[in-house]
Amino acid sequence: MKTEIIYKNGGHQWYFFGRDPNRDARLIDTNQFMITVGNDILLTDPGGAEIFPMVMTSVSNLVDVNRICAIFCSHQDPDIISSLPLWLSLCPKATVYYSWLWEGLMSHYGTQYLKNAKLLPDAGMRIEIGDRPFEIIPAHYLHSAGNFSLFDVEAKILFSGDLGGGFMPHDYPLYVKDFTAHFKLIEPFHKRVMTSNAAKHRWIKRVRKLNPVMICPQHGALFIENGVTEFLDWLEDLEVGRW
Ligand SMILES: [Fe+2]
Ligand SMILES: [Fe+2]
Repeated sequence: MKTEIIYKNGGHQWYFFGRDPNRDARLIDTNQFMITVGNDILLTDPGGAEIFPMVMTSVSNLVDVNRICAIFCSHQDPDIISSLPLWLSLCPKATVYYSWLWEGLMSHYGTQYLKNAKLLPDAGMRIEIGDRPFEIIPAHYLHSAGNFSLFDVEAKILFSGDLGGGFMPHDYPLYVKDFTAHFKLIEPFHKRVMTSNAAKHRWIKRVRKLNPVMICPQHGALFIENGVTEFLDWLEDLEVGRW
């Protein structure tokens, strides 16, 4: 599994894990991210149960998994979070953040593990990991009905969940370079799984105000530099919720 530092600042690191060449071909490829803030560690959308052994091995090669204090779930899909009971058996004290809407569904991953769930209100909230502020912003209907993006306020990095993702070929590059080709690839995914144009415009307006320098979707390639604006402009013009 590919492990890469996508950003660093002082003693803090932002890691990407993904592109496992040995995964079953039926599995959609997923991007997992870890942020280390001093002694505290945040995992965002840590992935499915199927790839847990690879992600866990990559993480534990770098850090002590006991330091994981927060797990953010953009939504309730199995590719996002079916690894949750496995992670929580290793770091049972971690706080798990997800929409209030999914309490009944998420509990099926194991009520015995979900002792430190933080149910997110629809408006989102601000949290701190170590001394670092994060903004959890609403992305409802993009695509899940209870859906959030996670914004690292100081690094200005946005973890966008399925927004910006797509069904990608194996061994896809980590950063988007050819926008025309990339948008062609991710267009069918956005048209089909993003369900509301009004919600899409609300999200874009909020994200433009945040002015991120990097957008990290849970699938496919990351948008950096002018790629951020290219992506937001492209999404703004795309009619979603159709097939
Ligand atoms: Fe999803
Ligand atoms: Fe996904």
